[in-house]
Parts: sequence; C-alpha cells; structure tokens
Amino acid sequence: MTTSRLVLAAAAATLLVGPAAATDINQPPINYETATPDDAVTRLQKDIAAGRVKLAHTDDHGYLRSVLKGLAVPESSQVLVFSRTSLQRSRIGPRTPRAVYFNDDVYVGFCLRGDVLEVSVADPQLGTSFYTLDQEPAERPRFERNTERCLICHASSANRGVPGHLLRSVHPDRTGEPMLGPGSHRTDDTSPFAQRWGGWYVTGRHGALEHLGNRTYRGRQDYDEERVEPGSQNVTDLRPFFTTGLYPTAHSDVVALMVLGHQAAVHNRIARATLETRAALHYQDELNRALKEPPGTRYDSVKGRIASAGDDLVKALFFSGEAKLTDRVEGTTTFARDFAARGPFDAEGRSLREFDLRTRLFRYPCSYLVYTESFDRMPDAVRDHVLRKMYDVLTGANTDRAFAHLTSADRAAILDILRATKPNLPAYWRDR
Ligand code: HEC
Repeated sequence: MTTSRLVLAAAAATLLVGPAAATDINQPPINYETATPDDAVTRLQKDIAAGRVKLAHTDDHGYLRSVLKGLAVPESSQVLVFSRTSLQRSRIGPRTPRAVYFNDDVYVGFCLRGDVLEVSVADPQLGTSFYTLDQEPAERPRFERNTERCLICHASSANRGVPGHLLRSVHPDRTGEPMLGPGSHRTDDTSPFAQRWGGWYVTGRHGALEHLGNRTYRGRQDYDEERVEPGSQNVTDLRPFFTTGLYPTAHSDVVALMVLGHQAAVHNRIARATLETRAALHYQDELNRALKEPPGTRYDSVKGRIASAGDDLVKALFFSGEAKLTDRVEGTTTFARDFAARGPFDAEGRSLREFDLRTRLFRYPCSYLVYTESFDRMPDAVRDHVLRKMYDVLTGANTDRAFAHLTSADRAAILDILRATKPNLPAYWRDR
C-alpha cells in the first residue's frame, strides 16, 4: 500500500466508525481480551472437537456452507455489500461483493477467494465476540477468536466503544471505495429508506420507495444532485452487475436487509446494556469496599448508568423512531416466509415475527430478539429494568413520546403475545 492509499484507508475508517473511542472493556470485570467466551461459535467449536460435527470444504466457498449449516444460519439471509469497507477490502468490489449471512445470534461474512470467514456473534457475557475461520482446507478447522484486529472498526464511538456490529450506507466509487466527500449514514430501522444501502446490492420490489443501493458514483456531481440512477431501483436480478452464480444464492433480499438493520442495532444495545451494567456494578462494589459501606449499597450514578443503557434498549426493542414505509416492500427470496414461520405464535396465531411491510417492518413492533439468550442473560439489574419499562409501556403506564407510535391496540397485542410466548417473564407480567 502506498502512503496515500494508507492515509485514504485510515480516513475511510474514520468516516465509517469515527475515531477509536476510549473503552474500559479490557479492565475488570470484563477483561474482554482475556475472558473466555461462551457463545454459538464456541459451542460449534466444541462439537467439532468432539467429532459430533465435521465441517466440509468446497473449492468455491471453502467452509461457508458447512459453517452456515453448523450455526443454523439460513442461506436465504444472504445480503451483499460491495463497498470496500471491511477487513478483506482487497477482495471486495462491485463485481466481487462480500456476502453476509445471519440468524438471531450469529453473523457470517464471506469473500470470494477470501483468506478467512469472518464471524460476529452475540455473547451473553462479552456483548459481541469475533472469530475467523481459515478458508484453507485443514484436518481440524478451528475458529480463532479475534479481538483488537476486529475492534479497530467494530468497537466504534457510535456504540460507545462497545464491541458490536456495523452497518453503514456509503457512496462507493466505481471500484467500491467509499467517497469521502458525501459522508456516510448509519443503517438501522430508523434510517430514512432514501439513505439506506449505499454500497450494497438490494433485490426486491418497493414501488416508489428509493434507496442508495445497486449503484456507484463517478464523482461529485453524481452525489451532489443525488439523482436516482436508472436501473438501480426495484431490482430483482443482479446478473447485469456481477456473476451471481459464484454465490450460494443470487440475491440480496431487501427484507433480509431491513431485518439485519433492525437486529444489529438491537444487538448493539443488548451488548452495551450488558457491558455497561457489569462495569457499573463492579465500580459500585469497589466503591463500597473502599468506603466500607455494606455490599450492595447502590449509588445514583450507578443506577443512572444502568437505567440509561436499559432505556436505550427499550426504545430499540419497540422500534421507536422507525422510518415509515410509504409503499409496499417485497423481497426476492423465501427469507420473509421462513423467518415469519418460526414464530413462536400465541393461541390466535400472532407472532412478533409477522411482517407488515406496508407501513413498517413488523406487524407488532416489538423485537423478536427478546427471545434470545443474549437478552435473557443480561445482568439481572438491567434486564429487570428493561422488563419493567416494557411492561409500563405496554400497559399504558408509561406515556413517554418515544412510544407514541404504539397504538393501544399495538400495546395490547404485544402484551398478549409476550404473555403467551415468553416463558420466563416476571410474575407481575401475569397479573391482569
Ligand atoms: C476496516 C474496518 C473493519 C475491520 C478491521 C473489521 N470489520 Fe467487520 N465490518 C466492517 C464494516 C464496515 C462492516 C459492515 C458491512 C460492510 O461494510 O462490509 C462489517 C461487518 C461485519 C460483519 C457482518 C455483521 C456485523 O457484525 O456488522 C461481520 C460478521 C464482521 N464484520 C466480522 C469481522 C471480523 C470477525 C473482524 C476481525 C477479524 C472484522 N469484521 C474486522 C468493518 C471492519
């Protein structure tokens, strides 16, 4: 790399994630670097070591398909990003997009002829953990835990230095390099549709809704005017853009992209709530020891830190600030059908995974991530705070404007669905 390209890459990293934030994740009690993770990847690794699972290698995709199967990640979740914004940037471009796959806990990144598969996973103790798997065929393939190498980008200041997921919308030039002039946007369910997916491929129908995907920029005049590129909207076939046959599927499904944007934002807040609470309680213990106060004495600053991280999570769980859809959205794969079919359902057949896709993402705006292990295993102090607040919102006791988008019918339906489908709710949730 020449010096100017290095400077450019560093500038691009700053553009994407902001300057590295100071974090205390390598201090007690978290000790991110040296802690032993316990997550979906470490469990698969144990199964491989015990001979219960054997990963198969193929010439075209290395261990990809076998890893997806081992981690129960559906191939229909495939989304494609062609901006050179991640680890294996030299492998990525408009003709060789990077593929990302995900389920409720795990994200897998794949590059054609990449050296490694990249994996990020929700970790109940550590927030988010990162792994690589060498794509060379090996006798005993091993997931290797990575910390600093990934956190350079993945512990962004936007996430207060907490290890998490990244989804940005950039203005890529013809090689996929993000242009520095026009800046970039965060992509989650609150992002206006019109700002989403710059540097990504998008397959689906979305009527008059416009996005930034499926296009590159020649220069300034292109993005100054922000004209919609002919042929970039309502795309259902990516063959004009690259050789789709090189990938497990030919799609980058718009509904999968929307779910991914929501999910990554919620996962980041679960991770932040977990790490903030662990750090705050540790601080309280130290202070109590130093001041010879009885153990468990709570300080307002500690309560405040926990409440603030929990409140942020509740907003994301209830889709506070979600961008309204003004036209119908439909993907090109079985993703939406498979996703919705997983339930769980209440006696009336309702589920938090049921899509709306006319005015918003889901019919009942409460995240299905409440069913995950990373939610259930948050420290008691913050999980209790979150569940109490959710209950107050759903019963109408909390009238905060952040939840004004939830009608009383929405609140009642979500309360019913959760009561019927989430087994480990506190007792007061059951009272009528
Ligand atoms: C140069 C910055 C950079 C580095 C270093 C980096 N990533 Fe990423 N990663 C990104 C960006 C940006 C995205 C969002 C998608 C995109 O633009 O490709 C991303 C997305 C991902 C995703 C998809 C879901 C998610 O978590 O956001 C995975 C999985 C992932 N990276 C794994 C890794 C692993 C594992 C490492 C370390 C071995 C790593 N990354 C290092 C920038 C980086």
